[in-house]
Amino acid sequence: MLIRIIITPQKSLNIDVMQELFLTCPGGLETICENELKTIGILNTRIKPGGVSIFGEEETIFKINLWTRTGVRLLVKIDHFECRNKNELYQGVHQIDWNSIFTTQNTFSVNGFFRSEDESLRNTHYATLVCKDAIVDRFKKECNSRPDVNKLDPQFHIFVHVHHNRGTVYLNSSGSPLYKRGYRRGKMHKASMNEALAAGIMLLTGWNGSTPLYDPMCGSGTLSIEAMMIAANYAPGLIRSKFAFMNWKFFDPHDWNNLISNAKDSIKRQIKPEIFASDIRRDAIQMAKENYRNIRDLSHSIMWDVQSVTDLEPDENPGMIVMNPPYGERTGEMESLKILYKGIGDMLKTNCQGYSAYLFTASSELMKQVGLKTSRRIPLRNGNLECRLLKYDLYAGSKKGKYMDNKS
Ligand SMILES: C[S@@+](CC[C@H](N)C(=O)[O-])C[C@H]1O[C@@H](n2cnc3c(N)ncnc32)[C@H](O)[C@@H]1O
Repeated sequence: MLIRIIITPQKSLNIDVMQELFLTCPGGLETICENELKTIGILNTRIKPGGVSIFGEEETIFKINLWTRTGVRLLVKIDHFECRNKNELYQGVHQIDWNSIFTTQNTFSVNGFFRSEDESLRNTHYATLVCKDAIVDRFKKECNSRPDVNKLDPQFHIFVHVHHNRGTVYLNSSGSPLYKRGYRRGKMHKASMNEALAAGIMLLTGWNGSTPLYDPMCGSGTLSIEAMMIAANYAPGLIRSKFAFMNWKFFDPHDWNNLISNAKDSIKRQIKPEIFASDIRRDAIQMAKENYRNIRDLSHSIMWDVQSVTDLEPDENPGMIVMNPPYGERTGEMESLKILYKGIGDMLKTNCQGYSAYLFTASSELMKQVGLKTSRRIPLRNGNLECRLLKYDLYAGSKKGKYMDNKS
């Protein structure tokens, strides 16, 4: 039987009724994130900046952690209060019945987002310390003892949000961000994209596995791997063995294991999506292959190759191209990147008629070098960077004349 979790009027975590949840996601993917929830049967949702708010119970918490591709952290609301200064913050956090949520034997950490007129609350480090002290003092008062803080791998992740004089305290049910799927285990590609963003880009393109997909600057393979997981209906949470909710007293492994078995049964094992992933760097392809091999139960083939994007000559059958070229923030120099982007535009113009192409970049200067008209420009955030996902419709034959340089 699935257990229901609630926050009782005593400001504690308990079982029985519906719960207010908030699923965070990369900026710009809120609608996609909400659509994903609908596809797994979660309808009680509302889009908010930076995520989706949801009403749900334990099954909802499990399902979202297992299935969301674009969600980053699923937060369970514990309490909210007026919060204009550090005293109100301390009181608001202190009044929660923490001992009913975890014990002095558990470890915890506090993270937060603080926007306030009060100067002391503008310092995130200081504000989280106030929250930590409030929790510790409450335990000491009631138990004469306190739980330890563990910043790296806590059992209980507390998240405090302060904005417009309102404080909200959440328990993070996911733990480490859900984009840490667990398939990147070795050395990281220095410009790799986070998995939630890559999945969001693929969902925005609408690619579903029925046409060929080319990822000619694949780096560590994130876009191709997420694309394959989408086509094969592979739940991203199947790769992870650890979620914070597993430390909760109400966690019932039986309910969780049922959802895991259902997710395994719903993998589309017979399909053969055509995904061609390439990069100019051999070590990147090596890394991408290793990442893909780390996903158990996903045995569909991705075709890997070492080649320059400018040499891409996709198949006659139209399909889709998705590219994440370097954009100067982390790798490469501007002048050589301008030449690269111009080369990408020329390649698309000459070799990819009939295809749809998507290019993800943060540089408006570099976008212009492609020299093709965009049919969509979707704003997305990659961490602190304002980026764009640009779409190019590469018409065949007579429509070639459309490829004039313009405001793209
Ligand atoms: C921003 S990274 C892509 C990261 C990738 N999305 C990931 O998640 O790992 C850009 C990639 O473009 C590759 N690259 C640079 N110039 C290239 C070229 N001319 N042809 C193909 N790949 C190129 C780099 O080696 C790098 O791996």
